[in-house]
Amino acid sequence: MSHSPFVSVVVPTFRERENLPLVVSRLDGLLRDFAWEVVFVDDDSDDGSAQVLLELSRTHPRVRVIRRIGRRGLASACLEGMASSAAEIFAVMDADLQHDETILPGMIAAFQEDPHLDLAVGTRYSGEGGFSNWSKWRQFVSKFATGIEKAVLRTPLTDPMSGFFVIRRGLFEETVRHMTGKGFKILLDIVLSAGRKLRTREFPYEFRARQHGESKLDVVVGLEYLYLLVDKTLGWLVPVSFVFYVLAGLSGLLLHLVILGLLHRGAHVEFFYAQIFATLVAMVSNFLVNNAVTFRSRRLKGFPLAVGLSAYVAICALGAIVNVQSAEYLYVNAIPWWFAGVTGAAIGAVWNYAVSTQIVWTWLPAILRKKKKP
Ligand code: GDD
Ligand code: MN
Repeated sequence: MSHSPFVSVVVPTFRERENLPLVVSRLDGLLRDFAWEVVFVDDDSDDGSAQVLLELSRTHPRVRVIRRIGRRGLASACLEGMASSAAEIFAVMDADLQHDETILPGMIAAFQEDPHLDLAVGTRYSGEGGFSNWSKWRQFVSKFATGIEKAVLRTPLTDPMSGFFVIRRGLFEETVRHMTGKGFKILLDIVLSAGRKLRTREFPYEFRARQHGESKLDVVVGLEYLYLLVDKTLGWLVPVSFVFYVLAGLSGLLLHLVILGLLHRGAHVEFFYAQIFATLVAMVSNFLVNNAVTFRSRRLKGFPLAVGLSAYVAICALGAIVNVQSAEYLYVNAIPWWFAGVTGAAIGAVWNYAVSTQIVWTWLPAILRKKKKP
């Protein structure tokens, strides 16, 4: 007799203390027909979740716990939960009871009925599925994003953003090494990473309101979503951080040109000085944007932020000399002011990307961390 479960319900948790016992008792009531287990993957929540989880796993043979220390991330938590399991299929479900667990038995049974089924997705769109209490704005954003995805996806899904689904082990093994593993959109990541059309079934449900705790979906999640799409479309060609660096640079360039235009054309400041000033402002702006967006996973804060800015400015100073000199050279040779400005900035940008990635966001955080811990 095998002791390994047929299905592992993987539940990512972050600050869900009150919800944890509820999840176990609901699953317990629903999954009696299956050999099941639940794997909670908690990212060291500071609300006492660990004690609750350990107590649950002591009293409940079907409860397992993975505690990740010093790590964060919904998608990677789910992947590690699956990787820890010997089951044939994995269900992924939120801990906050917003996903309607009563459709789970049907989703699991679908895999027993159809040996070729890859994915069963709980969907909030088709049939009687709905949103209960989403704001108009959030519904719009969700529908808009879903529209883009449908255009990109080989496997059509009505709700590719769903965090509620069941996946066969084979598909997990096929895709896990190609996945971004970042952000919230794990289902989208799986579908984008599978190099084939998948066999799927959808199960409509009503997205419930949260009872306890609060949502962790914020601006950062939107960025991670963008990151995932860039990675899956351009990732084979260039690192995603480069794409973001260029985008940040373009915003800096726009700022640069506005300031240059205002000072030089508007206030009649000499081109040479206007270019220096515009470069300085763009430099600080680029640093802050890159720190918040491009390198947000190693974001500098407090003292390291100040050191990082100084290092960044020093690195850029060299790039700026080249920038200003080449722009000035072009300008005095009758090249239009805006083209001279763009060219100078572009030459500086290549230097800035290469050197600052290495020094400001790789080497510097590493030595500052080492200094803190003796
Ligand atoms: N381990 C871990 N680490 N778990 C996390 C983390 C994290 O960094 N962030 C969130 N979670 C857990 C939460 O505890 C919860 O169980 C689940 O992931 C979903 O997080 P919520 O904060 O409740 O997300 P939501 O309700 O706003 O988002 C829902 O809709 C999205 C689509 O719009 C979820 O269903 C998502 O899965 C879904 O992608
Ligand atoms: Mn939620």
